[in-house]
Amino acid sequence: MRVVILTGAGISAESGLGTFRDEDGLWTRYPLEEVATPQGWARDPARVLEFYNARRAQAAAARPNAAHAALARLEARLDGQVLIVTQNVDALHEAAGARNVIHMHGRLDGALCAICDHRWPAPGTMAPADPCPSCGAPATRPDVVWFGEMPYRMDEILMALGQADLFVSIGTSGEVYPAAGFVEEAAAQGVRTLELNLEASRGSRLFDEARQGPATRIVPEWVAEMLAL
Ligand code: OAD
Repeated sequence: MRVVILTGAGISAESGLGTFRDEDGLWTRYPLEEVATPQGWARDPARVLEFYNARRAQAAAARPNAAHAALARLEARLDGQVLIVTQNVDALHEAAGARNVIHMHGRLDGALCAICDHRWPAPGTMAPADPCPSCGAPATRPDVVWFGEMPYRMDEILMALGQADLFVSIGTSGEVYPAAGFVEEAAAQGVRTLELNLEASRGSRLFDEARQGPATRIVPEWVAEMLAL
């Protein structure tokens, strides 16, 4: 049974990391065009770095929850058959023991040179004009994907989706493309689809089945069902 799992901010909510679009979500407090676009970065890099420095510190202090742990268990048991595609920039899937994880929106703990594309582990705090260790350009940015940029490893993701038996979407509002389109991609290729989310999302009706509840309850329940098959 080949399973592709898409995760979003909802899976890390019970680890204390904020979501984006819920009441009190990050985008209600920070205008996304100022902190998560190439234009915002060009206008005010200090503000953008401050936003990501704070999120990096929060993510580093967070611990994986029962939902991350359940997915790592599923991956270990269905060895080589599970791919976790996450929109999250935290590393909580890996902290729970998952190994086959694609961070389609990048990672907070990565740094990227905007000039030469060199990547290296991010320092705890980035400052404007930090030099790239490879080319020396004062162009260090977080290795995260901003609105208007292409998510990472899309070819691999679409290939895995087409070959899957089951696509599961966990803790994501389905508001941001291309991830929001994976359910239709999968369904068009005959892949069964399941949504696990706190509440019905805008795209819930596109799934064969949608279950509602907090991730720390409904993800371990679903994994237990899968492991009992
Ligand atoms: P959103 O904030 O848009 O959606 C979070 C979803 O998680 C909502 O549907 C909530 O109902 C659900 N949720 C909240 N708490 C939950 C819980 N305890 N258990 C289960 N579900 C819960 O976050 P994303 O869908 O991840 O991109 O957002 C997608 C992208 O938009 C992010 O990767 C980010 C953002 O802008 C970039 O920054 C490029």
